[in-house]
Amino acid sequence: MADRPNILVVGSINMDLAVRSRVMPEPGETVIGEGFTMSPGGKGANQAVGVARLGGACRMIGRVGDDPFGRTMLENLRSEGVVCDYVETTEGVASGIAMIIVDANGENSIVVAGGANRRVTPDDLFGRTDAFEASDVVLLQLELPLPTVRAAIGLARKHGCKVILDPAPAPNPMPEDLCEVDIFSPNVGEAEIITGTKAVEEKVDKNVAADLVTRGADAAVLKLGHRGSLVVTADGHFYTVKPYKVDVMDTTAAGDAFTAALAVGVGRGDNLHDSAKFANAAGALACTGFGAQTAMPTEQEVLLLMEDQPK
Ligand code: RIB
Repeated sequence: MADRPNILVVGSINMDLAVRSRVMPEPGETVIGEGFTMSPGGKGANQAVGVARLGGACRMIGRVGDDPFGRTMLENLRSEGVVCDYVETTEGVASGIAMIIVDANGENSIVVAGGANRRVTPDDLFGRTDAFEASDVVLLQLELPLPTVRAAIGLARKHGCKVILDPAPAPNPMPEDLCEVDIFSPNVGEAEIITGTKAVEEKVDKNVAADLVTRGADAAVLKLGHRGSLVVTADGHFYTVKPYKVDVMDTTAAGDAFTAALAVGVGRGDNLHDSAKFANAAGALACTGFGAQTAMPTEQEVLLLMEDQPK
């Protein structure tokens, strides 16, 4: 493992169309929002930008549409230092987009139209095995077709990479084989969908994370939002990792910042506890700005917060 770990993100690239609204609309209701923004997002691309800002060397495999959104998103990824030679432009298909509403508490609701992301196939990966060979960590989410994610896990294993899966959005039911990764890192809502158990306080959270480990992960790192995170490992360790306090503006992509930081920590050889601490700080900072990639923190910002609030 290296100081500047090589991290491969196989994931989605979306244009985020976001509106702030005092309240979330009920079904059938129209509410007046404010502050429309359009900016690059997608769980995969957010994590790739997060990795690059946090000190990792990042390459991405994915697809954009042959449209202005695709060109803007690709340009943005490149400007962040993400290697995009394996991001394809898909003719005749729209780029992925996400409709996002952020309420007065900074909580968000998201609907994604996958577009070109749904065209990322296992064959796209089989032709790119050099990217796996060159990587310490492979970072995955679930906005691509599941057979593609499954193929990525297989190639990562074959080439000796650690696999981190952020199972977002969580399918119901969750295919068991996708849980067989080095680190499985859902948020509370996703963990509840996958396990069918409500995670509400420390003891119950622990049961939920332990359940994820019994499904085959070497470790589960549960993202608890303002309560920090919780780590359970297959070899019997269990601990909570304290949160960092910040003023929350928008929680969009906080989980992506967390996962990106976790990958950087693990990729550079830090232990899981230190990696989760680094991830908690990155996730907290991502809540202090509006948007997804626009709010990804840098390594320096994360280290400053950790220095300010020693744990
Ligand atoms: O995790 C936040 C992301 O989810 C947004 O950027 C949106 O594109 C969706 O993929």
